[in-house]
Amino acid sequence: MDVTEFLKTRASAPWRELGEPGPDDMEIRDFLEAAVAGPDHGAVRPWRFIVVRGDAREAMGELFTRALLKRKPDADEATIEKDRDRLRRVPLMIAVAARINPNHPKVPPSEQIVSAGLAAQAILLAAQAKGYGGVLLTGDHAYDAEVKTGLGLRADDEIVAFIYIGTAEGEQRPKKRPDPAKYTREWTGPA
Ligand SMILES: Cc1cc2nc3c(=O)[nH]c(=O)nc-3n(C[C@H](O)[C@H](O)[C@H](O)COP(=O)(O)O)c2cc1C
Repeated sequence: MDVTEFLKTRASAPWRELGEPGPDDMEIRDFLEAAVAGPDHGAVRPWRFIVVRGDAREAMGELFTRALLKRKPDADEATIEKDRDRLRRVPLMIAVAARINPNHPKVPPSEQIVSAGLAAQAILLAAQAKGYGGVLLTGDHAYDAEVKTGLGLRADDEIVAFIYIGTAEGEQRPKKRPDPAKYTREWTGPA
């Protein structure tokens, strides 16, 4: 398929429809090579990728549960189970964070976060190109100090994505997308 046509087909897979098999080491390496090929002003290299798979997913589920209960001691069982269920079903999770240099002379923090976001998009696209389904989630865990520490990140790192990747059940359904013209205009000079 033409690359532009492929890009237009990008879509998230619901995590409940993702399962085994997950990508192997070579495929994960490919996803990450695609990620670090993204635009990166000043070669800051702000991205940090944390790969969670295999038995580590259970521990990740426990970390999420601990963090959730600290934030919401009265969280119900269904909410607790949702995180654990996702990590049990989906073979691979890649957390993407931006390690921001707040004092960079030319590249403000917002640009460093954009770089990490673009890296996350590249991972999603690379996974889809290899036939996997994926979805990018954040939620309160992305802003949780305990989760950051548990992942080996710093308190001031910005988690931009938890990307879940696996084999999607059934056919990928094409999604109706908005007409970009609605959000676009051609500039012909100052107003
Ligand atoms: C930074 C970021 C964080 C997101 N976090 C969540 C999330 O926590 N939960 C969720 O349901 N969707 C989240 N989404 C949206 C999904 O990734 C996805 O785009 C959405 O479900 C629509 O599906 P589509 O990608 O196929 O259009 C997030 C998207 C972005 C860009």
